[in-house]
Amino acid sequence: MNYARMVIEKEAPEEYGYDRIRYNLSESSIADQKLSDIGLKLPDLTLFYGEHRGDRSLRELIAAQDKDLSSDDVLVTAGAAGALFIIATSLLSERDHLVVVRPNYATNIETPKAIGCTISYIDLAFESGFAVDVERIAAALRPETRYISVTCPHNPTGTMMSRADLDRLIALAERHGCYLLVDETYRDLSYGTRLPAAASLSKRAISVSSLSKAFGIPGIRIGWLITRDAELQERFLAAKEQIGICGSVIDEAIARTMLEQRDAFLGRLLPEMAARRTIVQDWIDGEPLVDWVKPSGGVVGFPRIDVVPDFDLDGFYVRLLEKHGTYVGPGHWFEMPKNFFRVGFGWPTADELRGGLAAISTALRD
Ligand SMILES: Cc1ncc(COP(=O)(O)O)c(C=O)c1O
Repeated sequence: MNYARMVIEKEAPEEYGYDRIRYNLSESSIADQKLSDIGLKLPDLTLFYGEHRGDRSLRELIAAQDKDLSSDDVLVTAGAAGALFIIATSLLSERDHLVVVRPNYATNIETPKAIGCTISYIDLAFESGFAVDVERIAAALRPETRYISVTCPHNPTGTMMSRADLDRLIALAERHGCYLLVDETYRDLSYGTRLPAAASLSKRAISVSSLSKAFGIPGIRIGWLITRDAELQERFLAAKEQIGICGSVIDEAIARTMLEQRDAFLGRLLPEMAARRTIVQDWIDGEPLVDWVKPSGGVVGFPRIDVVPDFDLDGFYVRLLEKHGTYVGPGHWFEMPKNFFRVGFGWPTADELRGGLAAISTALRD
C-alpha cells in the first residue's frame, strides 16, 4: 500500500483549529452532539472484547431499517471510512479495475489509488446537475472490474440518484458479475424519499453508512457495511479482525442509544436541515456570482463561483478565512477547480450560516 495523506483531511477544520474559525461552513455533518444532548448516561459496561461483527443489538437496529436484512448482514466498522477501507483492501489488487464517480469523498478514491489498481473515473458535471450517467458507467466496465463505487446522497454535491438509476446500477453489477458499492453515509439526510439500502436489494450490492453525519457523533467512530453475501461478509470480517479484532464497547453502547431514538431525532432534524438549505438557496438567489445544484440530500452543496478567468481564487480563500473567519471546502479538496467550493449548511447555527454566506459575498468583492 502506497499511502498518501488526503488533502481534505490535512486541511480539515479540526487540524487547522476550531478556535481559529468563526463561521465554519466546511463541515459535512450536522452539529456535533454532546452525550447530554442525546440524554446518555453510560451504564456500568464490561470492557471486554466485544462480538467481532459488532454488538448484536446494534446490528439488529441497523438491519431493521430496511426490508430483507438480518443482523448477520451487518458488520460494524470504525466509521464509514473503516468500512470503505475494508471493502477496497478486500476486493482490489494491482491487477483489478474500479469504476468510481468523481468528485467524491476522498477515501473512495485514495484507498484504491494506494492499492494501485486501475481506476476509471466517471466525472460529474455541473451542467448536467451532477447526475450519475449509468450509460457511461456501463461503458467503463472491463472483465477485471471488481466494483462500481457511487455515493448517494453524494458528497460534495448533495445530489441523489433516482430509484430507477439505482436499480439499473444493480442490474449492471449483477450482469457483469462485479459488485456495486453504495456509500450511503448521508442516506438519513434525504429530503424526499429515502432510497432503500442497496444491499437490501441484491447480493451484488454493498452498502456503507455511519452515525457521523445525520446524527452528529463522528467522535465515536461507528459505521457499518452491509452485504447479504455470506462468503464476502466472512472476508470483510477477517479484514476487521486483522485491523483491530472488534470495535469499542463504549462506542457501540452510545451508538445503540442513538439508534434507539433514531426516528424522533430525525423527525426533529430534517425540517431544520431543510430550512438551512433554504437559507443557502435564498443567498444564492440574491448572489449573482454564485450558483449551485440544489442538494436533495445531505448537508452540503457544491456551489460554483462565476468570476473572470484571472480572478485570484487562492487569494479569495485566504481572505475569506483570515479576514472574515469563514472556512469552506475549496474545490481542490475534491480534485476539482477552485471556482467550486463545498458549503456545509448543517453544522453551523442558522445565524453562523448567514454570517458565513455574507462573508463569502464580501470576500468575492474585497
Ligand atoms: C461520503 C462519505 N463517506 C464516508 C465518510 C467517512 O465518515 P465516517 O468515517 O466518519 O463515518 C465521509 C466523511 O466525510 C463521507 O462524506
